[in-house]
Amino acid sequence: MTVLVTGGAGFIGSALVRALVGDGERVVTIDKLTYAGNLDNLAAVLACAKHTFIRADICDRMAIAAALREYRPRIVYHLAAESHVDRTIDTPSACIETNIVGTAVLLETALDYWRSLDAAGRDEFRFLQVSTDEVYGELGAEGQFTPESRYRPSSPY
Ligand SMILES: NC(=O)c1ccc[n+]([C@@H]2O[C@H](COP(=O)([O-])OP(=O)(O)OC[C@H]3O[C@@H](n4cnc5c(N)ncnc54)[C@H](O)[C@@H]3O)[C@@H](O)[C@H]2O)c1
Repeated sequence: MTVLVTGGAGFIGSALVRALVGDGERVVTIDKLTYAGNLDNLAAVLACAKHTFIRADICDRMAIAAALREYRPRIVYHLAAESHVDRTIDTPSACIETNIVGTAVLLETALDYWRSLDAAGRDEFRFLQVSTDEVYGELGAEGQFTPESRYRPSSPY
């Protein structure tokens, strides 16, 4: 089956796409190619038969739903974001559109897609939201965060 990566032309997303394709996964990358996205980051996999690139905005419900319907991923890794904190202050609407509206569109279309799966497909499906360690605040004496760590934001996040 297939893995779908949003924001796959960005810094972390492109590294993930390259690693997944290297592991033999069939990967579909969705990216709007904003100032932060660069197809050069995907040069190693663009011509690969196991990789498909779709230029789309995650706010575009029809485009996202069509990609889910066509490629039927078992995992969605969501990395598309306005990730630069200074820009979220200078141009907040783009941040709200992508980080909030776009994420909601992705979650809703993924839920619709999940409902269309059979029982085994529902069990297997995962939606992985890539966020930031900032939601946990400062790294404590234990030196790592775990799923049990409490949210303790120390910044305006
Ligand atoms: N880079 C870091 O050090 C770091 C640290 C912690 C968390 N994160 C988080 O990881 C995720 C990815 O970070 P990154 O550094 O790779 O970001 P990035 O800015 O390098 O890449 C973001 C990608 O998303 C795409 N994109 C933006 N808006 C889009 C939209 N509306 N529709 C489709 N694609 C869109 C861009 O074109 C770009 O390719 C973000 O959520 C970020 O907050 C990053």
